[in-house]
Amino acid sequence: MSRDLLQKLIGIARYAPTGHNSQSIRWLVIEDATEVRRLGGLVADWMRSLLAESAEYALSMHMDRVIDSWERGIDRILRSAPHLIVAHGLSTMPLSQSSCLIALTYLELAAPSLGLGTCWAGYFTAAANFYPPLQDALALPKGHLPYGAVMIGYPMYRYQRMPPRNKPEIGWR
Ligand SMILES: Cc1cc2nc3c(=O)[nH]c(=O)nc-3n(C[C@H](O)[C@H](O)[C@H](O)COP(=O)(O)O)c2cc1C
Repeated sequence: MSRDLLQKLIGIARYAPTGHNSQSIRWLVIEDATEVRRLGGLVADWMRSLLAESAEYALSMHMDRVIDSWERGIDRILRSAPHLIVAHGLSTMPLSQSSCLIALTYLELAAPSLGLGTCWAGYFTAAANFYPPLQDALALPKGHLPYGAVMIGYPMYRYQRMPPRNKPEIGWR
């Protein structure tokens, strides 16, 4: 996937609203698939350490199954995606996290119009907030936290219908 295309997509996401119109979101694009794989390996290391230390949280997040798959060559962490887009911001900036997540949501919604597919990288984001070896690998600017990330590539499947969802639970007053 070309850098131009990734830049075009981020160019759309930058129109997302930000708290106080701070426009303070920063982006880190991991373009190199080998590096994406290496970062996934660090997430797997984090999961193994959690499974050893605080099994309850790790088990509730099904990390045992994720690690089992990883060891069989199935990547349920970053889905063997070729690229990863991380939205980060200053932790002292109010609403940084909300702004990053809104921008990533714009990015996710815009991706199919450019022929691209995304998947939220929740395991990666959690590890990137807590696991020093992954934080070192990302080397974000001082004071920044990675508030969200999506894997991105060309979709393998074409959806024929909407995925099923529960009915909304709404309180009317
Ligand atoms: C906040 C969030 C974090 C997620 N993290 C991961 C992840 O780390 N790895 C993964 O493969 N999928 C991840 N997903 C994808 C969800 O598993 C997926 O969206 C959900 O199962 C519904 O499937 P659908 O989007 O195809 O309808 C995440 C989704 C969200 C919203």
